[in-house]
Amino acid sequence: MKSLPLYIFIAVSITGFSQNPDLPTDFLSKEFHKQRRQQLRENMPPNSVAVFFANAVRNRANDVEYAYHQDPDFYYLTGYKEPDAVLLIFKDKQTSTTGTAYDEIIFVQPRNALAEMWTGRRLGDAGVREQLGFELSFNNKEFKKYNIDFSKFDEVLFHEFQNDVRNDPRDSSDLYDLVNQFKAKANFQEKTGLTLSVEPQRNNLNALKLGSIMDGLRGIKTPEELELIQRAVRISCQGQVEVMKAMKPGMSEREVQGIHEFIFKKYQAEDLGYGSIVGGGHNGCILHYIENYKPSITNKELVLMDLGAEYHGYTADITRTIPASGKFSPEQKQIYDIVLNAQQSAIDAIKPGVTFQQISKIARDIVNIGLKDLGIIQNESEGTRYYPHGLSHHLGLDVHDRGDYGELKENMVITVEPGIYIPDDSNCDKKWLGIAVRIEDDVLVTKDGHELLSGSAPRTTREIEAMMKLPSVLDNFILPSIEKKK
Ligand code: GLY
Ligand code: MN
Ligand code: MN
Repeated sequence: MKSLPLYIFIAVSITGFSQNPDLPTDFLSKEFHKQRRQQLRENMPPNSVAVFFANAVRNRANDVEYAYHQDPDFYYLTGYKEPDAVLLIFKDKQTSTTGTAYDEIIFVQPRNALAEMWTGRRLGDAGVREQLGFELSFNNKEFKKYNIDFSKFDEVLFHEFQNDVRNDPRDSSDLYDLVNQFKAKANFQEKTGLTLSVEPQRNNLNALKLGSIMDGLRGIKTPEELELIQRAVRISCQGQVEVMKAMKPGMSEREVQGIHEFIFKKYQAEDLGYGSIVGGGHNGCILHYIENYKPSITNKELVLMDLGAEYHGYTADITRTIPASGKFSPEQKQIYDIVLNAQQSAIDAIKPGVTFQQISKIARDIVNIGLKDLGIIQNESEGTRYYPHGLSHHLGLDVHDRGDYGELKENMVITVEPGIYIPDDSNCDKKWLGIAVRIEDDVLVTKDGHELLSGSAPRTTREIEAMMKLPSVLDNFILPSIEKKK
């Protein structure tokens, strides 16, 4: 074949023609992952090694697996999205038998034309070097033979095993085997007592420390991570906006869920950060209600919608509560405004140095006083009955993300999510029964304050009612009946 003229070569390079047209271009960069591994190394104790395993493939039923999702720590450190892999990170340089120095090594599933035809492309060990920037990578079949003396390290760090991984007997280097091969190499003893989860034969095995090191790293977001979180948040806000415009009494919880999730997909979010919660009326009182079975939401009911698009691994976590009719009843508005006031007051207090506990107390005190003023509780200590969950958690690769829960620090991303839920069997005036309100926003802690990331989804009752009056792109989306003709 003739070689390309130089001008074509240059044009291809500049315009990025060489990009794989099957893939987005805004994944975390390999430099990000490499830098995160280096950061981990700097936080590891002297003379130690950290061992990470890819997430397990989980079976849904028969021969159908759940869609694969990488373990967030593994993804954070590697960018690798496939199963059956193990990563070793060494505090200090190691020397191979051939004299090469290395301080990290990854074992990944091999290329396999037949398997790839059925279940998708694989990077293989060469792809991991080329695309993820590892210098040393091997086929996972090599792990068994990999000669490593774990006893020479002062500490071998790993996450506690749950022993809930299936063995595929046709594959001698799947996750089940990799874990067992590690256990044999490290002389890991299974737990025998009720209290100790790891009973090391030697005392250099540590299944606890890695969690707190990873909390410290993942709790503070880098600029690249913030880009992706902000995108996930903007997508999720747009889902809330479009539902507000499209909502009509008589819609099912499932249809509302579907509108949100269609918007997520329309903006290329590949996943959900957690099961979508759409609770009409008293279903909103079930905090993690993901059944979404109610066929018809009535015009007197609120709809509590807690959904998060996951974009390139990072998730949003946003809740809006709206009236199906487009207008809050006086009772709904009274409850709503207590929750909003609690939320806004907590958000206003966010800045570095303030603690999670302090902002939680601000919100809880306002909810308690509000419930007492309305006569729903008699004294403020009863408030937890109607506000039974925490205010905030870290947000990132996990919806309940890793992070420290002491003082807020710059570049943490947290949720602020007070709620009031009044189930039907509550001991209060029946006009309040079935009202459930949660308002949840995603907030970045900045150098001297905070930034509300999810402000583009209306939050006040006035803003919500105004948004619900606007026309929807779905107003003319009318499908034919699929009922059988009698
Ligand atoms: N969506 C789960 C939560 O708000 O924590
Ligand atoms: Mn949340
Ligand atoms: Mn939520």
